[in-house]
Amino acid sequence: MKTCLVVPFYFAARRIRSNYQTFKGSSDVIELAEACYENYLRWDSGCDTDIIFVNNSPEVKEASRFLDKINGSKVKNGKLIVINGDNIGMGFGAHSLAYKTFKDKYDYWMFTEDDTLITKKNLMKIAIEQLKSNSNLGFVACYGLALGSRKHAHGGIGCTSKENLEKVWAKHGKLPHHESIPDLTDNKKFKHTHIMHGEIAFTNCYAKLGMEIEKVACDGVPYARWDRDESPINDKRDKDIWGEIALCHKQCKEEILDDGYVVIKDFLSAEDCKRIKSEFLNLLEKFDLSKTKDYPELKVVNHTKKREVSGNLGNLSEPVLLTRGLQGFDENMIELFKAEKLINLPTQKIREHIDQLALWTNLSKYRVSFSIYYNKGVTNTRGYHRDNSPLPVPGNPRETKRLYKFFMYITDVSSIDQGPYSYIPGTHTWDNCEEYSKQLQPISQNDLDLSLDPKIFLEKAGTVLITDQAGFHRGLPQNEKSERLMLVCKIRQDNG
Ligand SMILES: [Fe+2]
Repeated sequence: MKTCLVVPFYFAARRIRSNYQTFKGSSDVIELAEACYENYLRWDSGCDTDIIFVNNSPEVKEASRFLDKINGSKVKNGKLIVINGDNIGMGFGAHSLAYKTFKDKYDYWMFTEDDTLITKKNLMKIAIEQLKSNSNLGFVACYGLALGSRKHAHGGIGCTSKENLEKVWAKHGKLPHHESIPDLTDNKKFKHTHIMHGEIAFTNCYAKLGMEIEKVACDGVPYARWDRDESPINDKRDKDIWGEIALCHKQCKEEILDDGYVVIKDFLSAEDCKRIKSEFLNLLEKFDLSKTKDYPELKVVNHTKKREVSGNLGNLSEPVLLTRGLQGFDENMIELFKAEKLINLPTQKIREHIDQLALWTNLSKYRVSFSIYYNKGVTNTRGYHRDNSPLPVPGNPRETKRLYKFFMYITDVSSIDQGPYSYIPGTHTWDNCEEYSKQLQPISQNDLDLSLDPKIFLEKAGTVLITDQAGFHRGLPQNEKSERLMLVCKIRQDNG
């Protein structure tokens, strides 16, 4: 079984929507095309899948040069093919052209827009299983579904079979699109042409053939947006349809590279947080944490008085429940290493987001571990420090390896004395922290130039903070009554 994903590109200024223009010219779209290429190099569709880029503006030399360079390259589950289109019918015309060119080659077809990057692992496989389970299913929508008399897949984004496409072709002599080059300056005209006869017609044709259109049956948003274009409307739409908000590739990448952190609200659901908290607190109750001792399911380590177990506790094969305190800070802070072995965690969802982080930061090989941090009345915490260096440290390769963390708030942290995480933006790069270049150990408060303006993250349960740990950070001290629970995922570079 061979499958393909068709992605049309148009390298020029695009429509202004809600006073916002994502693409002001060809160079903005080239930046997008480069990101799409990186994304589809790694996207695991779950099947044999070729990626077909249709270039709807081959006259733009710089774009053609880039596309010529990548044409034929190997991608995760197949190869990348570039063909030239004419922009008649925009992306929907491009889909039609791709189908006409390769109709005998592929059994299943997925279509998307250039600025909606398919990211969900196995999405092709999931959509095909859905199509196979219902012979009257015409199209599986992967971006959302508009109901009513103009029932269609939003953006024409989704998957169908060769058989279904043959029926559409037999009726229309093409995959539906408007026979014109769009006038992108006239939104009203655009609606009557490329929305009605393009976006809607492209999949409404299945309903007209008496077939069904369904939303794809997957967990979470299966795509990343390129830009925060019309963000409030899209965020609400995503949440209504998928239960969470899509990542915006461009902004997330800029934030992690420029500032060293990204904040994503509502990353974990209220149910996830509640379950993690209750499972963890139940686990704590079962053990006497005052003594270092081995149990069948974990090792309890007490480091409040002396070091009982040497080495990196995260490297042991079994989960470890550690109580800290030896280093003069973080006294009575509890860390559960290898938390995923004892607590039911949404690891797959987190790993999919780590794949995105790897894309933004160009991290090719990495190791992932999960911990739970439990701070209850931890009144003395380590000052601003970094976990690794932005520059090579002679004789200490570990310090040089990149380290990112996902800090997932499991409980609300709404005031300073509850011990929020704090990060100094920009200090993860050599340019911004040269002054502290030799300072790998915690920096004293007095030495730190606080004009650098630390961010303090007062966040609700469910928020994730993704950070580059080469930037200065700390957890703020709590008052004696505060309780803070965090799920922490550590992503360590594996080579180079
Ligand atoms: Fe740290």
